[in-house]
Amino acid sequence: MTSPIRTAIDFYERHPISAQIILAKLEAARGTLEDLQPEELFPHDQDHYGGLAANDALALAARIGLGSEVVDLCAGLGGPARYLAHRYGADVTGIELTPARVAGAAELSRRVGLDSQVHVLEGNVMNLPLPDAGYDAVVSQEALLHVPDIARVFAEAYRVLRPGGRFAFTNWVVHRPLTDAQRQLLWDGMAAATLIGIEEHAKLLRGAGFEIEAVEDETEAWGVILAERLRMYEKLRGEAQAAGTPAGHDDFYKSYVLFVELVQEKAMGGARFTAVKR
Ligand SMILES: C[S@@+](CC[C@H](N)C(=O)[O-])C[C@H]1O[C@@H](n2cnc3c(N)ncnc32)[C@H](O)[C@@H]1O
Repeated sequence: MTSPIRTAIDFYERHPISAQIILAKLEAARGTLEDLQPEELFPHDQDHYGGLAANDALALAARIGLGSEVVDLCAGLGGPARYLAHRYGADVTGIELTPARVAGAAELSRRVGLDSQVHVLEGNVMNLPLPDAGYDAVVSQEALLHVPDIARVFAEAYRVLRPGGRFAFTNWVVHRPLTDAQRQLLWDGMAAATLIGIEEHAKLLRGAGFEIEAVEDETEAWGVILAERLRMYEKLRGEAQAAGTPAGHDDFYKSYVLFVELVQEKAMGGARFTAVKR
């Protein structure tokens, strides 16, 4: 098995959501990239289920407001970080593994004038390049499934928070045991390294020192979103095949179909966790 870290980087280096693609689409639509506004990026730069509403839910859970100092784990292209900065006035430090995404985040933040409030650093969330007790909130949007050691991430989140600081995140969860073949396909196609249940997340959070404030099961809502996204993806795939252009990565497709089925059956799903460092 290739290392989970290398696999996650390979997966996201080839991912269809990239800064170049977003900027090309916007330039085609508006004729220029001058005076780009953060709101114009938001329909394109959020790589998680539930869009901006999912960011609002994290902001509320983590009590993010004007001047909050926030860490965003697995920040992607900086979409959630820019939203928290723009909508709530937070200062956000993102940590992101994939170099192309770190560069993309910097470019997008600069283009919309948020580069003094949003900094996405290249790094691995298992070892945060950040000082102890320096932040009010830590958030993460649908990404910890890629990380091989979630206990370590929770310990790091705890370390960088000030006392009273809040940790709010969403992640994939497993509700019923998966077969080895299902786990293998989710790994091969979507770099899913750690798939655990709600109770296991809770146990690991408590083990890191957190007090759990809320756990919200998002499986029902994700079921609807995922079915819609799969229909869209299949339409694009069909169009690509009809045009004789590459229809995309086959392992990804198979694995995505399996994930959508598992969420419909409620064998898997998503959850939002809110925890406090007392
Ligand atoms: C599904 S995307 C979510 C991105 C972002 N949170 C968002 O909602 O737009 C998952 C991200 O996690 C990053 N990632 C995976 N493993 C990581 C790790 N160990 N440390 C930091 N980032 C990681 C990937 O490179 C990818 O950009």
